[in-house]
Amino acid sequence: MNEPALFISFEGIDGSGKSTQARLLAEDLRDNGREVILTREPGGSPGAEEIRRLVLEGAQDRWSPETETLLFTAARRDHMERTILPALEAGKIVICDRFADSTRLYQGLRGPCLRAVVDQLHALMIGREPDLTLLIDMDPATGLARALGRAAGEERFESFGDDLQVRMRAGFLELEAEFPGRIRRVDGDRPPENVATDIRAIVAEHLA
Ligand code: ADP
Ligand code: TYD
Repeated sequence: MNEPALFISFEGIDGSGKSTQARLLAEDLRDNGREVILTREPGGSPGAEEIRRLVLEGAQDRWSPETETLLFTAARRDHMERTILPALEAGKIVICDRFADSTRLYQGLRGPCLRAVVDQLHALMIGREPDLTLLIDMDPATGLARALGRAAGEERFESFGDDLQVRMRAGFLELEAEFPGRIRRVDGDRPPENVATDIRAIVAEHLA
């Protein structure tokens, strides 16, 4: 009883294994008697799932980088209000597949000075970071091959291709240096069980 709430996000390039590892971690924590909310961004609440369709489907130039930043932030705000904060207040563990670091990179790197806009909007409208961010790091080409091998339909970002994966991988490693207390890097280029073992150890350390 009265175990601490914990807010965990998974980050990394497309196909790095975030969804797989988020699911494995949720199963493990539930087996250990914890209440877990497994959620994702963009999405995670009915309103934010509607915004997800707007941002992930359609032509690449459907939105300007600025409009896209507002849409991702609006989706996150709804997700925080309706899903994440109520769960944390109830003492649950929230595991979120992508969070604000994805906006810092995917939108923040799309225009000059957009990173500053992303950070200002975050401070105004979200105002909270995860307690722990698990960065699954891996070779960009392997990640892209894995992502493209998966059932599609949400193609706006994946069709940006190899070059985007390379820039995002480098960007995530820079974020790790920027937020060293929060972001923990895990090597994702191994069998899923090995990756999961490292992740369990990091989370156990946080819960201790
Ligand atoms: P992400 O959520 O980061 O895009 P997924 O968890 O959806 O990644 O994984 C992308 C694809 O790669 C899926 O088909 C998944 O089954 C597979 N996959 C996940 N982890 C591994 C791994 N460690 N080794 C090989 N394939 C993996
Ligand atoms: P996701 O479904 O997690 O894709 P994947 O499983 O392939 O990693 O996310 C879909 C896309 O949305 C992904 O390419 C990254 C992008 N994205 C942003 O551009 N900004 C954001 O703030 C978030 C959360 C995601």
